[in-house]
Amino acid sequence: MRTPESLETSKRIVIGHRRTCDCPQSHINCLSAKEWMQSQIAVWEFYYEARDIRDKSVHPAAFPIALPLKCISLFSHRGELVLDPFVGTGTTLVAANDLGRNAVGFDLKKEYVELANRRVEQTQGSGTDQIALCDDARNIPEYLEEDTITLCVTSPPYANLLNRSRLNKSMRGDLRKDEHYLEVQQYSEDSRDLGTMEIKAYAKTLGGIFGNILPLMRPRGHCVVNMTDYWWKNKRVPAHLYVIHALQNAGYELRNTIIWDRRNIVNRAGIFGWPNNYITLTTTFEYIIDFWKPA
Ligand SMILES: C[S@@+](CC[C@H](N)C(=O)[O-])C[C@H]1O[C@@H](n2cnc3c(N)ncnc32)[C@H](O)[C@@H]1O
Repeated sequence: MRTPESLETSKRIVIGHRRTCDCPQSHINCLSAKEWMQSQIAVWEFYYEARDIRDKSVHPAAFPIALPLKCISLFSHRGELVLDPFVGTGTTLVAANDLGRNAVGFDLKKEYVELANRRVEQTQGSGTDQIALCDDARNIPEYLEEDTITLCVTSPPYANLLNRSRLNKSMRGDLRKDEHYLEVQQYSEDSRDLGTMEIKAYAKTLGGIFGNILPLMRPRGHCVVNMTDYWWKNKRVPAHLYVIHALQNAGYELRNTIIWDRRNIVNRAGIFGWPNNYITLTTTFEYIIDFWKPA
């Protein structure tokens, strides 16, 4: 039971989480049968729009609005609650507003949280709430009630992938030496930042964070994680496998492995190092891994 003292210090937020649509109870989203059929291909492609953040000095790894938009329309109803534990610039919140879903996002970095909230303010009101909060994703259970989240959609740091000088290996010749050449574009040096962790410590921490989120999710609520494999010290790191194992150990069930085909947005990729290696194959796709909380 909560005492008056604990109520005073409580971080609980009040935010809608119930359907406001009149879809049949058994439906998993507000899509028509035709729209649902059209979305069943497991290779996805997205395009950027004017509202997207593409300037790497603002944030090194924002995903396109179209990505959370697709996940939200597939795995939630209007009025339900969406969570992004690593919200960055608030892209998931913008998509949630577009689709009339409530949403909460967390990020360690104050500048990103402020930007996320400004982006939401600039969107049209949809009668729902979207909010970004500055805190460690480990603390999410302090803010939200159990059994309220219908969908978690996120792109966590790709372990310590960004924590090194950028060599722009995917670009050709002169393009490689752009303004970001040799820059380190990590989010922060905060030891709680998952972007500072090597893959094993990262997977353990990520598993802990998602394990804490599980009770907040509704049964059969989906959890969609964007991830990429990468090279580290000339070794291939199958980071998506670490993420799958971490979330399975935390109690989630794997539902789908989707390929995000990025060939349409990779900027004139070159085959760096040919014929000895094909490092740039990495840049042409990422994983979108779909789990759910078992019933
Ligand atoms: C790949 S970015 C997310 C980008 C986001 N999808 C967007 O479109 O802007 C990952 C984010 O996780 C944040 N982060 C890293 N460790 C965190 C932690 N322990 N708790 C909360 N946020 C964290 C970073 O600051 C970074 O903004």
